[in-house]
Amino acid sequence: MILVTGGAGFIGANFVLDWLAGSDEPVVNLDKLTYAGNMETLAPLKGDPRHIFVRGDIGDSTLVADLLAKHRPRAVVHFAAESHVDRSISDPEAFIQTNIVGTFRLLEAARRYWSELPAGEKSAFRFLQVSTDEVYGSLQPADPAFSETNRYEPNSPYSASKAASDHLTRAYHHTYGLPVLTTNCSNNYGPYHFPEKLIPLMIVNALAGKPLPVYGDGQQVRDWLYVKDHCSGIRRVLEAGKPGETYNIGGNNEKPNIDIVHAVCALLDELRPRAGGSYREQVAFIKDRPGHDRRYAIDASKMMRELGWKPADTFETGIRKTVQWYLDNPEWVTHVQSGAYRDWVEAQYATAAA
Ligand code: NAD
Ligand code: DAU
Repeated sequence: MILVTGGAGFIGANFVLDWLAGSDEPVVNLDKLTYAGNMETLAPLKGDPRHIFVRGDIGDSTLVADLLAKHRPRAVVHFAAESHVDRSISDPEAFIQTNIVGTFRLLEAARRYWSELPAGEKSAFRFLQVSTDEVYGSLQPADPAFSETNRYEPNSPYSASKAASDHLTRAYHHTYGLPVLTTNCSNNYGPYHFPEKLIPLMIVNALAGKPLPVYGDGQQVRDWLYVKDHCSGIRRVLEAGKPGETYNIGGNNEKPNIDIVHAVCALLDELRPRAGGSYREQVAFIKDRPGHDRRYAIDASKMMRELGWKPADTFETGIRKTVQWYLDNPEWVTHVQSGAYRDWVEAQYATAAA
């Protein structure tokens, strides 16, 4: 049995679906179901006794302690977070509460549970903190990619809150001996990605005939990894990672945002041609994100060298599968575009013309 937090969100749900497709080990899935959590993504697991879904907050110490005592998991895989940089700029409070206070309470509940385990179970227990490359800050064009020893220089309320949660995780290992693992991953994309992030937003806006909003000059660089490869990396770290260690996970796919948008347009031009010309005509350069990090790049050689992990998909295969998934699943998109989603998108892009 493992306890997954945030397993109704983009990466957490992909992780739970993949986990149960490859193993019969049950999952307790604790998720608050914020705007980013979606039970529809987990619909294939309806009625499956291996999936126990609990709606709740990682910051609810009593609930978490009860779940740990009742289900006795051998590991906690911690995805739950507020994850959108733009939302952290307009309203940081929830990021502090969930990412910092919530992670602290989860660690504390895990420590109490772990400290009472019999010796064998105690040494086998793992707490896996799912983190991000954004904690390392922003790279200059010629800088080497982030390695696990880069210093933390977070620049947004989101990345600062993730950095704080990573530090707490580290401290729980150093001080109490809790067997923690931390993964720092680059930008994910793939099925079930909430359409407020770059790639799914571009796909849904393109299909709806709306502008494709590119911040600033569109030359900010991100390293893109297909979500299933992030999930396989986490499984591998859980299986063979050394407690107290950090592992960078990335796809070696550095690309400027404008190239990503053009790649999405080219695939849509091929798979769902637009009357009157290319989807590229919908690209609109708008006001930049405040404090926008210029470049992220991940050096994942430690994962490859020490744990034998490598991504299965290239950007070209992953983005094709992703665009096709959105074309095949219009109902999922329609259902997540609730009133609250529409309000956010309208407020975010209302005054953004460059
Ligand atoms: P997401 O926003 O899609 O999902 C987050 C999930 O956490 C949602 O289901 C939400 O309901 C749940 N949640 C939020 N607050 C909660 C709380 N207090 N208690 C319980 N559940 C709560 O996020 P994602 O993109 O799937 O990211 C998952 C994790 O991976 C995050 O920790 C994020 O920092 C990290 N990460 C994301 C990326 C990426 O590209 N998306 C890359 C690297 C790391
Ligand atoms: O690097 C890992 C991080 O990737 C994760 O930790 C975060 O949880 C995840 O949200 C993601 O953060 P980004 O800020 O990189 O992702 P986002 O999709 O919001 O933006 C990707 C890039 O595209 C970024 O440079 C901003 C730009 N962008 C984004 C949006 C939503 C645009 O140009 N236009 C847009 O409308």
